[in-house]
Amino acid sequence: MRQWVLASRPDGLATIDNFRLEEAPVPEIGDRELLVRTLYLGVAPVMLRYMTNEASFERPLEIGDVMHGRGVAEVIASRHPDFRPGDRVQSKLGWREYAKIAPDDPYFLTYKMRNTDLPASYGIGSLAMSGFTALIGMREICQVVPGETVLVSGAAGGVGSQAGFVARALGAGNVVGIAGGPEKCSLLMTRLGYDAAIDYKSENVREKLEENFPDGIDVYFDNVFGEVLDEVLLLINRRARIALCGRISEYLKPVAEHHAFRNLGRLGLQDAKLEAFFVYDYTARFAEFEDILANWIRDGKLNPLEHVLEGLERMPEALIGLYEGRNAGVAMVRIG
Ligand SMILES: NC(=O)c1ccc[n+]([C@@H]2O[C@H](COP(=O)([O-])OP(=O)(O)OC[C@H]3O[C@@H](n4cnc5c(N)ncnc54)[C@H](OP(=O)(O)O)[C@@H]3O)[C@@H](O)[C@H]2O)c1
Repeated sequence: MRQWVLASRPDGLATIDNFRLEEAPVPEIGDRELLVRTLYLGVAPVMLRYMTNEASFERPLEIGDVMHGRGVAEVIASRHPDFRPGDRVQSKLGWREYAKIAPDDPYFLTYKMRNTDLPASYGIGSLAMSGFTALIGMREICQVVPGETVLVSGAAGGVGSQAGFVARALGAGNVVGIAGGPEKCSLLMTRLGYDAAIDYKSENVREKLEENFPDGIDVYFDNVFGEVLDEVLLLINRRARIALCGRISEYLKPVAEHHAFRNLGRLGLQDAKLEAFFVYDYTARFAEFEDILANWIRDGKLNPLEHVLEGLERMPEALIGLYEGRNAGVAMVRIG
């Protein structure tokens, strides 16, 4: 079987030379372990930080180690009483075609997919981390109330392409997305359930925010951080909630180049909340989240958009593409 290992550490954005595709034997399994065949692997912006050991919640990655990553897989052989061949699982598989999984080890965060009538690829997106993240940010952190105005940045990305649907399902009023380029902005309105879109690459963000939110912003789901958040702070309403989901505009910048905020005082003036959150702090509720999102998909309230590349050999390209804005929807690679 094939697997990708870390060949060298990136300096800024990774290049193909930082990865090496290797042949390895299919693993043998022991007691209470599973052999699984990878169906889909996800890519996430944070993986670049795995490569430089800057993500404190992930095990260190040494040169020559298999790249970390989650995916959805089919159980081929099981020596664990709770799993059978044919079961569909979500786990930390690594970038490889087959993996040995120890479901009892909390590190792997392995769980059996529940809604197997839906496509397996949803085990990368809507029924996994990016869907759960959209749900947690909108529902648990921002507690959207019917009729409220909602803004999402990174709105055409994996999480953002679902955050608008989640806001709508919770009864939000005006839901506006920010993305880069006219194609993504058109997609926000025609495919992803947003009422309006702002192109941060070619439009004046402050003017567009004022135009779209004449009565202010109640909820902001932020995937990007930096300058755009500073502009949003000028328009927040009393008791507004901001979910700090990600900071992709700054992941590749040295600290000295991070945005210097001018408008944070608006939080105090408006008695507003800005709260960061981490999807893995909610693992005890993943089954509940999977069922909510699966029901919304069946009811037509959530229409997942996927950006699928074919073949394990395209994993590095899929990861680098996130930073180049090449994906619309949940980025993933089909392996099996
Ligand atoms: N809190 C959590 O537990 C949690 C969980 C999952 C993900 N996250 C975070 O949530 C964010 C979104 O993750 P995702 O998986 O959905 O990834 P994603 O949004 O699919 O990431 C790629 C998108 O980010 C945008 N982007 C790239 N560079 C940018 C820049 N310099 N400035 C502004 N936008 C930029 C691009 O869209 P445009 O073409 O529109 O610029 C690109 O398509 C990330 O920051 C991620 O780290 C957090």
